[in-house]
Amino acid sequence: MTENAYASEADAENLFSSELDFDPFLDLEDEIIRLRQEKNAVILAHVYQDGEIQDVADFVGDSLDLSRKAAATDADVIVFCGVRFMAEVAKILSPGKTVILPDLEAGCSLEESCPPDQFRIFREAHPDHIALSYINCSAEVKALSDIIVTSSNAEAIVDQIPMDQPILFAPDKYLGGYLARKTGRDMTLWPGTCVVHEQFSLRELVRLKTLHPNAPVAAHPECPEDILREADHIGSTSSLTNFVTTSPAQEFIIATEPKIIHQMEKVAPGKTFIGAPGSDGCVGCNNCPFMALNTMEKLYLALRDGTPQIQLPEDLRVAAEKPLRRMLEMSPMKPVTETARARAVA
Ligand code: 13P
Ligand code: SF4
Repeated sequence: MTENAYASEADAENLFSSELDFDPFLDLEDEIIRLRQEKNAVILAHVYQDGEIQDVADFVGDSLDLSRKAAATDADVIVFCGVRFMAEVAKILSPGKTVILPDLEAGCSLEESCPPDQFRIFREAHPDHIALSYINCSAEVKALSDIIVTSSNAEAIVDQIPMDQPILFAPDKYLGGYLARKTGRDMTLWPGTCVVHEQFSLRELVRLKTLHPNAPVAAHPECPEDILREADHIGSTSSLTNFVTTSPAQEFIIATEPKIIHQMEKVAPGKTFIGAPGSDGCVGCNNCPFMALNTMEKLYLALRDGTPQIQLPEDLRVAAEKPLRRMLEMSPMKPVTETARARAVA
């Protein structure tokens, strides 16, 4: 059945009440705002979430912004609209708070690519290396790492490691390769990839550039090297958003998950954003299937019912907190990007 294709209101009611257990005619946005206040909750959203989730969130940002927000909030409940490793970071940094993820199945291909038992063997095979792990990994892999990085702070953190110190980097081989090229460091890389960013097609991107010769290419460093070679700006999702805001160009080609364009259109109104295509020329096929599991309906239910919650054994949480705190200490200070308005006070 396609959206809005119900034969009658009764059909819609039956479908939703059996699957989702609430009145299908509720104004979800109003209810989410009401429940957020009632439960003293804060809604944090990544820029790859659906536009309507970004619009109802208190804060929208990249992984580093969201980690900082999660560590600093005085709310009782953190509703994390992102993927599981992001919500786990919130729980690790704010253990006294209830942390809710609307869909617990919202994983990440990078996390999946790096099972903790195999990562342990990798570490043990390189005893003289320091282990830097991208935040897109499980709490178990974090606990086995020395320092966590995000795409916002990775270069600055690598630069603080003594030149003679060999580095292991997991799990993203493309971000690791980009960092190794940028910093000139020799890094041993775990072979993980992001299913979204590895799908961009060089041939299609070059074709698009010839059609839009004045459009700079903004790319996330999770893209393969051939895509990054075509980029005018490479950075985290916050960095890409800042780039399109401050650049004098009027149109841009965006090589990352296309939901970010919703935020770009808000912060840079009037500019044009073209999603970089995958191999068959399709932009929608670069949607993150994990991020897409969170919906307004699930967000409403999560707030209403206080579930599903992130739970971590305390010894694992404590072990994973150490490299995360090191990351926060070693990150260059920059103001937290709060691209979304604070709806609660609007
Ligand atoms: P950012 O930290 O740049 O938001 O990236 C997170 C992510 O999962 C990109 O795929
Ligand atoms: Fe993971 Fe890629 Fe989705 Fe980011 S876009 S959450 S790296 S699968």
